[in-house]
Amino acid sequence: MSTKRMGNNAQNPFYDTPEKPPHIHEKTAGVPLRFQQQDFSQILRGTLPERALFTKGTGAYGTFTVTNDITKYTSANIFSSVGKICRIFARFSDFKSEKGSADTNRDSRGFALKFYTEDGIWDLVGSNSPVFFIKEPAKFPEFVKTQQRSPVTNLKSATNMWNFCCAHPETLHQLLMYFSGRGTPKGFRHMHGYGSHTYSMINAENERVWVKYHIKTQQGIKNLVPTQAAQLKSTHPDFAQEDFINALQNEDFPKWTLYIQVMTEEQAKEFRWNPFDVTKVWFYDEFPLIEVGEIELNEIPGDYQLNIEEAAFSPANFVEGLGLSPDPVLQARIATYAEAQQYRLGRHANLLEVNRCPFSAEKVKSEKNSQKARHFSKFENEDSYPESAYSENEDDHFTQPGLFYTKALQDYDRVELVRNIIEAMNEISGPQRAEIINRQICHFFRANIELGMKIAMGLQINIDANMMNHAGS
Ligand code: HEM
Repeated sequence: MSTKRMGNNAQNPFYDTPEKPPHIHEKTAGVPLRFQQQDFSQILRGTLPERALFTKGTGAYGTFTVTNDITKYTSANIFSSVGKICRIFARFSDFKSEKGSADTNRDSRGFALKFYTEDGIWDLVGSNSPVFFIKEPAKFPEFVKTQQRSPVTNLKSATNMWNFCCAHPETLHQLLMYFSGRGTPKGFRHMHGYGSHTYSMINAENERVWVKYHIKTQQGIKNLVPTQAAQLKSTHPDFAQEDFINALQNEDFPKWTLYIQVMTEEQAKEFRWNPFDVTKVWFYDEFPLIEVGEIELNEIPGDYQLNIEEAAFSPANFVEGLGLSPDPVLQARIATYAEAQQYRLGRHANLLEVNRCPFSAEKVKSEKNSQKARHFSKFENEDSYPESAYSENEDDHFTQPGLFYTKALQDYDRVELVRNIIEAMNEISGPQRAEIINRQICHFFRANIELGMKIAMGLQINIDANMMNHAGS
């Protein structure tokens, strides 16, 4: 077989790349090689490693416009005057998704916002739920494993998930939201977003308040009923992405209103739950929503890989006038995102286009450093928030889920919630089935007797006197 090398590229009819490796021959098995190597490289190496969580998603650029003066709470320049506009980027995602999974599956949705402020990047990395499954970060790895495929069988396991939940009753509040209609939103445009954690704001006088962020959809909440979700799963597995992109292409730009709830340091000491517990909400009648501004998403990024896949959000990105809180889950998140992003995107993740702040790097750097110093020095000298201060109601995992069932849901929602839970718990299998079901039913009873009773009946479980003694306690 001839191994004659072609001369330089000018003579080469098949290659025009100067990087042509010397060992590539003009002909292989008599077939001329008609390709450019870089075309292949794009396919072979063009896909980034996936996010470990919230893998499947979509996003867009847009604007945030201040509509209400909150300068008494924060000195952050982004909120300095009504009418001020800041460019933003948003990414929506499904929590336990895989690239090919259907985005009408029951799941938590990620709601991540990046604000390109004149003081640097502020990321609000939230979800479509005001609460989270756990309140101790040490439980996070075990929790995530219950959402992923088994390392043994490579199958998803309802048993693993319920096994975790029944052993950790603090999951109950999020579980009820997850199995309500909110677990299957009708696309990303029709759901609210939440910062979920307690954050802080610091004003020009260096006074601090605790805040929770709420991002309310102006399109109205719409959820899919299970039959619709199942139908769309087979016909439109990318339903949420399609719905979002179609709306932007039709210039039907989705909007949300950003609100905060504010709790003073004094109120925090009086609050009957730990104000930094991410499994709890603050009730609106005690801590009313305060309007802040309007979010509009109106620009589909030109390149999905460069913008949506390369986006690196982190709760560690915040600016002068905004801050964190002693919530241990939030504190754990501060460190973990950078590690994930260095692995996924490389050491220069923050310099990638979508993650870079367009404002002067020097200004951002010096102000961010001084802001961080102020923020953390406040906590270092802090002895007014010892963990023990909140231990009294630390084990109350039931009052708020009970109120969610009775007050937040309508009759129809309650029926759907019970049906969804029964269906999901019927998938528990194996020798621990009875124990897992009994323990979990006990949690439902403790939140609300009617809820526990309906689920028990649906699972054909006989309720014994012992269980009833716990209920409502
Ligand atoms: C200890 C608790 C948590 C840990 C260790 C953790 C860690 C992570 C990591 C490593 C990523 C992937 C980051 C990347 O590759 O860019 C991620 C993504 C994400 N997390 Fe968390 N997380 C925690 C809790 C939460 C909570 C409570 C929320 C919601 C309130 C949340 C919302 C998100 C969202 C929305 C994303 C996807 C961001 C995007 O669109 O790129 N996480 N998380």
